[in-house]
Amino acid sequence: MVSFKELGLVNTREMFAKAIKGGYAIPAFNFNNMEQLQAIIKAAAETKSPVILQVSKGARNYANQTLLRYMAQGAVEYAKELGWEHPQICLHLDHGDSFELCKSCVDFGFSSVMIDASSLPYEENIALTKKVVDYAHQYDVTVEAELGVLAGVEDEVSSAVSHYTKPEEVVDFATRTGCDSLAISIGTSHGAYKFTPEQCTRDPKTGRLVPPPLAFDVLDAVMEKLPGFPIVLHGSSSVPQEYVDMINKYGGKLPDAVGIPEEQLRKAAKSAVCKINLDSDSRLAFTAAVRKVFAEKPAEFDPRKYCGPARDLMTELYKHKIINVLGSDGKA
Ligand code: G3H
Ligand code: 13P
Ligand code: ZN
Repeated sequence: MVSFKELGLVNTREMFAKAIKGGYAIPAFNFNNMEQLQAIIKAAAETKSPVILQVSKGARNYANQTLLRYMAQGAVEYAKELGWEHPQICLHLDHGDSFELCKSCVDFGFSSVMIDASSLPYEENIALTKKVVDYAHQYDVTVEAELGVLAGVEDEVSSAVSHYTKPEEVVDFATRTGCDSLAISIGTSHGAYKFTPEQCTRDPKTGRLVPPPLAFDVLDAVMEKLPGFPIVLHGSSSVPQEYVDMINKYGGKLPDAVGIPEEQLRKAAKSAVCKINLDSDSRLAFTAAVRKVFAEKPAEFDPRKYCGPARDLMTELYKHKIINVLGSDGKA
């Protein structure tokens, strides 16, 4: 058993309380490798933003759980080295799909876990979430739960359509599970294709797809039922068209990739939404930068020469999100 406190990490409790009061949201960035982690920590340290490092089950399998823990511990030390005296870094399991996985992460030094039982029937979601909460809280590890279903892939769970969270369920769910935060479904989804072209309109000037708005009425109703309770938005990448264009220009194929417009995320961040999940945007930045190097310098074969530019572009992306979208700069 390793406590997250020994690793210099923090849970989400205080982060979220401050974010709700301050009208901003904490960035939750997924990472799978060293370059992403370096970029996240550099961006957070330079902007003095609290940050959540998210690890999916897939990331844990990809990178190895032991290595990941030491990477997170290393991230705290790296942040200090960058001049961030008291880094506020949370290590969080993204989309945990079983009690065993959540327990293993708690035992391994994670400071927060998500139990995603949103695809189960309501009562089973409550029972599994409560079991995780009861275990995690013994070690002061905070727990995120989910109600409602996002379209797209949630690790091994996939759904073609989304089901918005039912506001009438949230009080019962939060009370009976004791969860610390709640991920809700209001029209976001995972990946780089959040809406089909049929669900969008087209900007006549640019020819770009314009997505439909998020269901802010559902968010408002949830906030009314659970005043001051921390709400989480998954699937919040904006799919920056400059990266999509770069990828397509340098040999990729991402036709009609579309995300959540940043002005909608800005609006959400000012509300009780205090954690915004971003993964796809970082993947796009990484891929765009690597493809550019490969296309322009076909003789290059030193990974540092293409992973380095990818890291720089991700750092720029994370800083942009922190400063211009979530508003979490200067809050740590
Ligand atoms: O919610 C999904 C995250 O983007 C993690 O994706 O399961 O492919 O690591 P992954
Ligand atoms: P995106 O695919 O929109 O980046 O969402 C990531 C996410 O929700 C991770 O849990
Ligand atoms: Zn997610």
